[in-house]
Amino acid sequence: MDSKTVIRPTEPKDIAALRRLIVTTWHDTYDDSIGRDRVKTITDTWHATGRLEDELHSPDCISLVAEENETLVGHGLIKRHAHSDVCLSRLYVLPQHQGAGIGRQLLKELEDRLTDCHSLCLEVEESNLPAQRFYEKHGFALLRRKSGCGDQSEIPTLVLQKSLTSVVTNNTID
Ligand SMILES: CC(C)(COP(=O)(O)OP(=O)(O)OC[C@H]1O[C@@H](n2cnc3c(N)ncnc32)[C@H](O)[C@@H]1OP(=O)(O)O)[C@@H](O)C(=O)NCCC(=O)NCCS
Repeated sequence: MDSKTVIRPTEPKDIAALRRLIVTTWHDTYDDSIGRDRVKTITDTWHATGRLEDELHSPDCISLVAEENETLVGHGLIKRHAHSDVCLSRLYVLPQHQGAGIGRQLLKELEDRLTDCHSLCLEVEESNLPAQRFYEKHGFALLRRKSGCGDQSEIPTLVLQKSLTSVVTNNTID
């Protein structure tokens, strides 16, 4: 990570750039496995400007950005769900900035803000092996498989979980 990289809460002024970051990273990550048109449909819905704005005002969300030289290069979002699960809903680093420690730093800063919960879960597409390796390296283990991701029922998905206490599971992702 560049020494000038700043991790900070997302602000209303970030929303347009944040949406561009998410859309760019989604196309780079998922076009080959999901298809460009479907990625556009999904990201137009899940990452609509109004939704991103709502997250900033929700007490159940923690939204952070990574910024370098006044440009957003990464984003992470944690959501607390009604059934009390706390999930890493997004972790995205712009393609040309990946592998430089930004994802690790965003994850750490998000986890540091979770002072009152015991575990963190996330969903990752079964085809997204690089992200699975990243999460495995950072302490997540396979909880279960499911046949859908969000409202996209046909995308094979893994649910991973990380204990934020000393209890660990032995499941590997394979
Ligand atoms: C997954 C992602 C968030 C990781 O962020 P990143 O900034 O690229 O990763 P970092 O540089 O912080 O990597 C941190 C560590 O994980 C390791 N790592 C990163 N990607 C890895 C991979 N594909 N396989 C194995 N290890 C990996 C790094 O070697 C590094 O190790 P270190 O801590 O020992 O130095 C980022 O690559 C990304 O946005 N990918 C595309 C979108 C995506 O798939 N998001 C997740 C959706 S569920």
